[in-house]
Amino acid sequence: MLIDSATRDQLQEWEKELSAQYQRICQHQLNLDITRGKPSADQLHLADGLDGILNGDYRAADGTDTRNYGGLDGLTCARELGADILQVPSDEVIAGGNSSLTLMYHAVLTGYLFGFAGNTPWRELQSPKFLCPVPGYDRHFSICEQLGIGMVNVPMTEQGPDMDAAEALVRDDSDIIGIWCVPKFSNPTGVTYGKETVDRLARLGQVANPGFRIFWDNAYAIHDLEQQVNLPGIRAATLENDTADSVIQFASTSKVTHAGAGVAFVSASPANLASLRRQMQAMTIGPDKVNQLRHSRLFAEFTMLREHMQKHARILKPKFACVSDHLETAFGESDLGTWATPRGGYFVSFDTRAGCAAEVIRLAAEAGVKLTPAGATFPYGKDPEDRNIRIAPSFPPLEELDTAMSVFVLCVKLATVRKQLETL
Ligand SMILES: Cc1ncc(COP(=O)(O)O)c(C=O)c1O
Repeated sequence: MLIDSATRDQLQEWEKELSAQYQRICQHQLNLDITRGKPSADQLHLADGLDGILNGDYRAADGTDTRNYGGLDGLTCARELGADILQVPSDEVIAGGNSSLTLMYHAVLTGYLFGFAGNTPWRELQSPKFLCPVPGYDRHFSICEQLGIGMVNVPMTEQGPDMDAAEALVRDDSDIIGIWCVPKFSNPTGVTYGKETVDRLARLGQVANPGFRIFWDNAYAIHDLEQQVNLPGIRAATLENDTADSVIQFASTSKVTHAGAGVAFVSASPANLASLRRQMQAMTIGPDKVNQLRHSRLFAEFTMLREHMQKHARILKPKFACVSDHLETAFGESDLGTWATPRGGYFVSFDTRAGCAAEVIRLAAEAGVKLTPAGATFPYGKDPEDRNIRIAPSFPPLEELDTAMSVFVLCVKLATVRKQLETL
């Protein structure tokens, strides 16, 4: 199907056929959901060994009785687990509670209310703003929106954020005090940042406001589907450029063990960690060390974690293949949309022709297939071209995903043909 070269007659004929197919599907009263990137029950079962793993032995290897209060930085063995995931030294890691998003929220608050490493609190600036590579992760944007921190879109490329744009913005506006990055298998584009991008990000701290921080959300650090994809280290790059304070890294086991019941990690320079601790100690006496110990026992060696992730990959691969097959079959030879085939992570990002995404999502919802709301991958929920749709294949069983994808491609075709007819 080629839209640009189709005549009005051809488009009208397609519209009739596609509408008839769509009406038939609507009669099936489907109730399918490919909105959020949640692990499936099969994936969650992989970590059920956590249950009972302590078997009454609550002492960590360093003698800590994990049942009791204390230890703001988390257990040594949990910090080592976070260090392995983020590839950083364990004394630069704090092992926290169950959610890295909570740690990110806390870190933004730290910068906003108190400032990092003795720098001006962001709230004292005239109009503090974050750079937001788009499309990106909606929950990052919600943190900024809630705190009244402005957001500036930066386009994503196949190598990460458009660094020409990011550098120019940072150079021109000293109120830019952060950038959101999902550097490996980015949510939703699946892109892994290249070496040049990482190096250029590490140099932003040389020209930015001294309170500027890169929020390096490495949520998919070990979530490779095939062989491992190498993400260049941001810590080493900042050390080389004398900007070690400009980055704060995050990860968690949410999509490794039990989502929402895992362990989250934050890693940063000693000066940044000191700023974070100052706020944390007013907030909590310490994290859930019992859960940290359970995780450390389940993954006593990093190789065990890698093997565990391969089991996830075996479950996820057919689902990603299902999405790819549907898209390739429907749109491989067409001008109806573009997408990338990710090598890991949780999402497939699909771009319709301009002005079609919201209508595709509406049509799919009416046919019983829930997609992530239009605009969700952009700050303030506004996709300026109304093109991006995030597909999350992990949660539904394969047969349901297959049906949902058939509906999805039909809705893309129908919405696009109708849009083109309007413009002719
Ligand atoms: C990029 C990204 N960061 C963070 C999270 C949430 O992580 P956590 O469960 O550790 O809060 C998600 C979940 O979808 C995510 O996609």
